[in-house]
Amino acid sequence: MTQPKVFVSRVIPDEGLRQIQDSMDATVWQDELPPPRDVLLKSIEGADGVLTLLTDKVDEEFLDRAGPDLKVVSNFAVGFDNIDVAACTARQIPVGNTPGVLTETTADLAWALLMAAARRLPEGDRYVRGGKWKTWGPMLLMGPDIHGATLGIVGLGRIGQAVARRAQGFGMTILYHDLARANPAVEAELGATYMPLEELLPKADFVSLHVNLSPQTQGLINAERLRWMKSTAILVNTSRGPVVDSMALVDALQGGVIAAAGLDVTDPEPLPVDHPLVGLENCLVVPHIASASRATRGKMASMAAANLLAGVRGERLPTPVNPEVYD
Ligand code: DGY
Repeated sequence: MTQPKVFVSRVIPDEGLRQIQDSMDATVWQDELPPPRDVLLKSIEGADGVLTLLTDKVDEEFLDRAGPDLKVVSNFAVGFDNIDVAACTARQIPVGNTPGVLTETTADLAWALLMAAARRLPEGDRYVRGGKWKTWGPMLLMGPDIHGATLGIVGLGRIGQAVARRAQGFGMTILYHDLARANPAVEAELGATYMPLEELLPKADFVSLHVNLSPQTQGLINAERLRWMKSTAILVNTSRGPVVDSMALVDALQGGVIAAAGLDVTDPEPLPVDHPLVGLENCLVVPHIASASRATRGKMASMAAANLLAGVRGERLPTPVNPEVYD
């Protein structure tokens, strides 16, 4: 019996790759960089399934080129803003993602960014490596306290809640904003107080972003909203880069509108080394690694493989983004 033909757009951890290669006729893109668009489109022609990354744009053109055999798009990520889900749904193609498994790992990184930006760890490290450490200094590299401070969480979904649990351990006051209020039981468990953004931003010492990227959240943190924040505030973004207006953030960090930022995601991504954000002492940037623990990436691989396999077999995906295709 012929095996289903699938294209996997990057090497993923063995926990998923082995299963894919054992049970499907898989072509795996081996390069560290994503396949160029023309190569991607050529590679998916006639595929029964594709395993995509957030660097692969899945749109009408992609679906046309894949052709009528395409039965599943399995994204190796919880986010799926790289995929035109409505276009997939219109063609009855289920889309899978990897929810749940990266929640705590992503919250760990958000917390690491918050702490590192507050306590100026990258600056301290550069200071030591730069041979500037001559003595103990009473005023050297001072930053704000984290314990007891006020944290504003924008987007109280799974990851936002996991960040709130970390904040509880630091005795923080927790404020949040979201499209809708959380369940009262969740608010009570986290000790989190809902408020509109225009009230939250002026009160928070730290603002951590955990919203999906959508037309409503694109540019959510713009020049005006940055001005609503405290001049001592620290912004942390582990959601998606375009949620923050990058040039407005540059101006805010340069002009002392806010104190510092810790970014896992940027716009554009990757951030060119000559981008003004990279040159700022008070901006810590890491290359979109929030889910990059070995265990979590292994679980993501296994989930993405399970979605791919179910899709090519015509079975319901374990974690579909568009379950309406099964109605
Ligand atoms: C996601 O899963 O959406 C992250 O951004 C990458 O792990």
